[in-house]
Amino acid sequence: MTDEIQWNYTDSLNYPDSLHDLMKVYDKWAPTYDIDVNGQLKGIGSKNLIKHALEFITNEESCLMLDVPAGTGRTAGHYKELGYKGKMDALEMNQAMMDVAKAKGLYRKTFIHTCTETNPLPVPDNSYDIVSSDAGLFLNHMPQGCIPHLVNAAKRGGIIIFNSRTSPENERYLETLQNVVDELVGKGTVVLKRKVEVPYGLHIMSYVFVLKKL
Ligand SMILES: C[S@@+](CC[C@H](N)C(=O)[O-])C[C@H]1O[C@@H](n2cnc3c(N)ncnc32)[C@H](O)[C@@H]1O
Repeated sequence: MTDEIQWNYTDSLNYPDSLHDLMKVYDKWAPTYDIDVNGQLKGIGSKNLIKHALEFITNEESCLMLDVPAGTGRTAGHYKELGYKGKMDALEMNQAMMDVAKAKGLYRKTFIHTCTETNPLPVPDNSYDIVSSDAGLFLNHMPQGCIPHLVNAAKRGGIIIFNSRTSPENERYLETLQNVVDELVGKGTVVLKRKVEVPYGLHIMSYVFVLKKL
């Protein structure tokens, strides 16, 4: 694990608040990320998200998913392990993480892209059966304002699923995230199909949100 990540054995991993420094964390972490997260950090949030995702999709070869942020493809590997039959595209800002992901051969297409509120995704609107975001929407990572872009990428009738930590440092982030979801629901863009609290990692819980695009 990188020195920049301080694991305090209570409830949080602390990440830098500038994108530039966050990029350096993942540059350095890429080679050992899977071992650290699946091992010491007990990163079970991805499998707990995927179990819900599989309930809402038609799990067949033609199903197309966008995995954002793909990281090292760890989540995509878990999708396959848990029986997902469809195709996957990856979107991720960090080249070192993406290089590890690409080497696993799990993806159809890959996109290097930094998600911000004002930066639309480099994919056509209405093109994915499922847009899945595991461990990306939380403090100092993808801003909550990215959610409408994730929704744009989903087909009508498609699913947008994401998780976000419920640990104290992420509390305010989650409040704003909920406002973004409520606004999308209020506009009739999506319906909230599920919001459930599930284990995420060592001492950390998360909410899983499942939205359906109308
Ligand atoms: C905790 S990892 C999660 C990766 C993978 N989903 C997993 O669970 O193993 C977070 C990833 O988000 C990427 N990331 C952070 N902020 C981002 C942004 N604004 N746009 C795109 N990727 C971002 C990082 O580079 C990193 O690979």
